[in-house]
Amino acid sequence: MDLLNYQAKTPFTQKHLLTLQDWSEDEIYQCLSHALKLKAMQKSGQKQRCLSGKTLAMIFAKSSTRTRVSFEVGTSQLGGSALFLSTADIQLGRGEPISDTAQVLSRMVDGIMIRTFKQSDLEALAKYGSIPIINGLTDEFHPCQVLADLMTIYEKKGTLKGLKLAFVGDGNNMAHSLMIGCSKLGIDVAIASPDGYKPNPVYTAWSVANAEKHGSKVTVCTDPLEACKDADVLYTDVWASMGQEGETAVRQKAFAGYQINTDCLAVARKDCIFLHCLPAHRGEEVTAEVIDGPHSVIFDEAENRLHAQKGVMALLMGNGGF
Ligand code: CP
Ligand code: NVA
Repeated sequence: MDLLNYQAKTPFTQKHLLTLQDWSEDEIYQCLSHALKLKAMQKSGQKQRCLSGKTLAMIFAKSSTRTRVSFEVGTSQLGGSALFLSTADIQLGRGEPISDTAQVLSRMVDGIMIRTFKQSDLEALAKYGSIPIINGLTDEFHPCQVLADLMTIYEKKGTLKGLKLAFVGDGNNMAHSLMIGCSKLGIDVAIASPDGYKPNPVYTAWSVANAEKHGSKVTVCTDPLEACKDADVLYTDVWASMGQEGETAVRQKAFAGYQINTDCLAVARKDCIFLHCLPAHRGEEVTAEVIDGPHSVIFDEAENRLHAQKGVMALLMGNGGF
């Protein structure tokens, strides 16, 4: 499949990116295609102006390096500007209703990217506001990261459909969005998590149904090596996510052994790649040998956050074209 020259089957009509479950396979491909084109344009020094005169508000209730920088730099490369709004500083953090915040920002800016805890807060912004809302990570989902991941897998493997991705670790926001995104594109997904930390069964059911439609498989098991067997892509994430710092000690016990290491490489495909959304904890969810070794493509993946987020903004907020 030539994603760079992907021909859309239907016009892109999504207003928001709350979760990839809302987007069709065709819409995800359109976004990846935009991201690949914008990357090529940036690398060859071609100007992009599709956000000319537009402003993105970026609300952060949690820390960020990649998401903040990719959206801020991406907006500027597309001719627009971005505002960093920490909830520690804006009235939302002091209890101003999300509905009022949504309506006020809708009068002043052209889109909102938000990183927060509850998915329902994003849904409220979308309900009360009149501008695109982009999920920059919630406790439930991290769709922007998965778009960059799919782009990276495509660049490294030249295809998406028919591959197998194994995720070892917490059934968290990354596990949910990977299951959803991959299952929509016909990529097999195997998740290995300890009991008590499996992905939310509702999102697993969505993903199983997506996979059935696209001729692939989603499985959840307990054994990391079972998940990694014959995988083209190995993926992991931290044992304790942002907001779970108080559970660190309990989680370190629960996740012992849920690590991508050379045993996983030995059962995966010889040419497998290793991905991690970052930040990573070497020696916990992944060994230094793997994350810093020849299978790892984590910095290409991190760079693709920039291009993928530009693809999202071009589609949701752009003036058309690039
Ligand atoms: N992967 C990711 O979202 O990184 P940040 O937390 O640094 O934004
Ligand atoms: N699961 C992690 C992802 C960080 C990008 C977290 O939510 O902290």
